[in-house]
Amino acid sequence: MSRIVYVNGRYLPYGEAAVHVEDRGYQFSDGVYEVFAIHNARMVYEDPHLDRLERSLGELRMAPPMPRTALKVVLRETIRRNRSQHGLLYLQVTRGVAPRNHAFPEATESSLVVMAQHTPPYDMETVNRGLAVITIPDIRWKRPDIKSLSLLPNVLGKQQAVEAGAFEAWQVDDGGMVTEGTHSNAWIVSEGGELITRDAGKAILDGIIRRALLDMARSEGIRFKERAFSVEEAMAAKEAFLTSSSSFIKPVIRIDGRDIGGGKTGPLTQKLIGLYAEHLETLGPLS
Ligand code: PDD
Repeated sequence: MSRIVYVNGRYLPYGEAAVHVEDRGYQFSDGVYEVFAIHNARMVYEDPHLDRLERSLGELRMAPPMPRTALKVVLRETIRRNRSQHGLLYLQVTRGVAPRNHAFPEATESSLVVMAQHTPPYDMETVNRGLAVITIPDIRWKRPDIKSLSLLPNVLGKQQAVEAGAFEAWQVDDGGMVTEGTHSNAWIVSEGGELITRDAGKAILDGIIRRALLDMARSEGIRFKERAFSVEEAMAAKEAFLTSSSSFIKPVIRIDGRDIGGGKTGPLTQKLIGLYAEHLETLGPLS
């Protein structure tokens, strides 16, 4: 089936979907994005993603491309036209097209691109298998809380992970504390059995799955703390895992070549995977 991409007001075949060479996203990374999980043709946590999009746009003083209600129509229509059942929906907004000049253009409309990507539905055997991460210095700018298009350190970090035979790279700040992965949030279960993930300050992206899991932990009475943890603490952790809209919840069973939790998926990680999977099955119909 051919893919359809929304570009600035038009639904185009994938091969014809293009933006102008002077789009500021292309020249300056002057834009923001969101990645939604699609499960059974439904967007997972649609409004929280749109809230975060509006926040990112606001932080960069960029105009929303259209009102939220209209944007929701475009998102649904992109899913429908692609007959997406499982996968991801990628949304990108840039400051638009203008002659190249670092300063904001006086009058230009934001550009909007929305595209769907098919992936197989999650399968518990693969999810539970667990994977390896490496640690790398966090060399990003000081605002990773904004979901900016500018992802060069993330790209380089992920490539380093792949070349090391790992799935993800956990970035470490100058104080030796883990911030997050290059495309996911980082979690551990401490020796004392407490769930820990970095607090949502400016050092990390406040992941939508991260927030959802904290809510689940709260309602299940699971003890958790939002705080920084060091690489040493992660190495000594009982369990570790990562979360993102594209990665689901993935157990981390090796950090820099060292086994975590005996190299097996831990019980709390398993419980959270189960809770998240249950949530996905309860999503309402696409309105
Ligand atoms: N990545 N941290 C970073 C740096 C990310 O890029 C992401 C998401 C997350 C998790 O956020 P969420 O739970 O909202 O997906 C954390 C997306 C999926 C991506 O760039 O593909």
